[in-house]
Amino acid sequence: MAGFCPVEATMGDDEPATDPHLDPFIATIYDGEHGGASDDVDWAVSLAAGIDEQVADLGCGTGRLSLPLALAGRRVIALDRAPAMLTQLRRKLRAEAPAIRRRVTVLKADLRTLDQSLPVHAVGLAVLGYNTFASLMTSTEQQRCLLGLQAALRPGGALTIATAALSAAHLLLPEGFTQDVYRRAAPELGSGVTLSRMDIHRWTDQTHQIRRLAHVYEVTGPDGGRRQHHFEYAVRYTTRFELEHLLARCGFGRVRVYGGYLEEPFTVAGGLLVALAQTEGAEPSRERRGAAAAERGLVVTSAE
Ligand SMILES: C[S@@+](CC[C@H](N)C(=O)[O-])C[C@H]1O[C@@H](n2cnc3c(N)ncnc32)[C@H](O)[C@@H]1O
Repeated sequence: MAGFCPVEATMGDDEPATDPHLDPFIATIYDGEHGGASDDVDWAVSLAAGIDEQVADLGCGTGRLSLPLALAGRRVIALDRAPAMLTQLRRKLRAEAPAIRRRVTVLKADLRTLDQSLPVHAVGLAVLGYNTFASLMTSTEQQRCLLGLQAALRPGGALTIATAALSAAHLLLPEGFTQDVYRRAAPELGSGVTLSRMDIHRWTDQTHQIRRLAHVYEVTGPDGGRRQHHFEYAVRYTTRFELEHLLARCGFGRVRVYGGYLEEPFTVAGGLLVALAQTEGAEPSRERRGAAAAERGLVVTSAE
C-alpha cells in the first residue's frame, strides 16, 4: 500500500475548488478517459465542413476535437487556459504531418477574456465542447465568454455549446453520494499500471446553480504500490431556456437546441443539452449545409 492515502484522510469540502485540468496528472490520463467518445467529434467535424474561416475550439484540452477538425482540413484555433492540457495537444501535433500541424494555432488564453485573444470577425465556427461552459461560474463570466465569441465570429458564424442537462434526480443527490466510475489499465502512466476513479457528489447549491464534486483516482503500480490523487472542483449548470436567453442577449439568433449530437429532441432526462446558434448575418447557404451533411462520416476518428 505504498503511497496510499485513505479517502477520508485527504478530502473535505472545505478545500478550495480548482479546475482539475490544470493538473498534469489529469492532462496525462485525459485521452485514456475520454478519447473513446466520438459523437461530439463527428458533430464538430460536420458543422465545420465547408467553413473557410478558422474554427475556434474553446477549452480545447488535449485537442480531442481540434485534431480531427484539422485532419478534416479546417484551420483551427485551439484555445485553453491549462498549460498541461496544451502540452498534451502539442505532443500529439508533433506526431502529425507538417501540413496538419500548420492548420492548428495553439493559444493559451481564458474564455473570460476572449476579446484579448481572438481575432475580430475571423472565426466561422466556435465550439464549446462538453462541460466547458460549465467552468464559467457566474452569469457575468458566461456573458463575457459569449460576447467575446460574438465579436470573434463572422456575421452568420455559428457557435455550438454542449453541456450537462440536470434532472431533479441529479440536483437531489445526497451529499457524499459516491460512485465507482471505472477501473482500467493505464498505459499512459506506465507499463502494468491500473487506474480507478471514484466520484463524490459533495453538494448542490441550487441558488447559484453550482455543484461541488470530487474525483478520486487511485493508481496501482505493477508492484501493487498505490497512490491517490484527488480533485475538488465546482461546475455551474445551466438550464435550456436560460442558455437560450443568454445567447439571445449576447447577439446570437436562430438558436436551436438538441438533446444530443445527432440532433435528437431535447429532454432533460437525456442528460445532454446541445445548442447551436448563429450570430446575426447571412445564413449559411443550402450548399454549405449540404456539404456538411455529405462530409458526415469523413475523418471522424477521435484523436485517441
Ligand atoms: C471538459 S474539458 C474539454 C476538453 C475538450 N474540449 C474535449 O472535449 O475533450 C474542459 C476544458 O476547458 C478548459 N477550460 C476551463 N475553463 C476555462 C477557461 N476559463 N478558459 C480557458 N479554458 C478553460 C479546461 O482547461 C479543459 O481543458
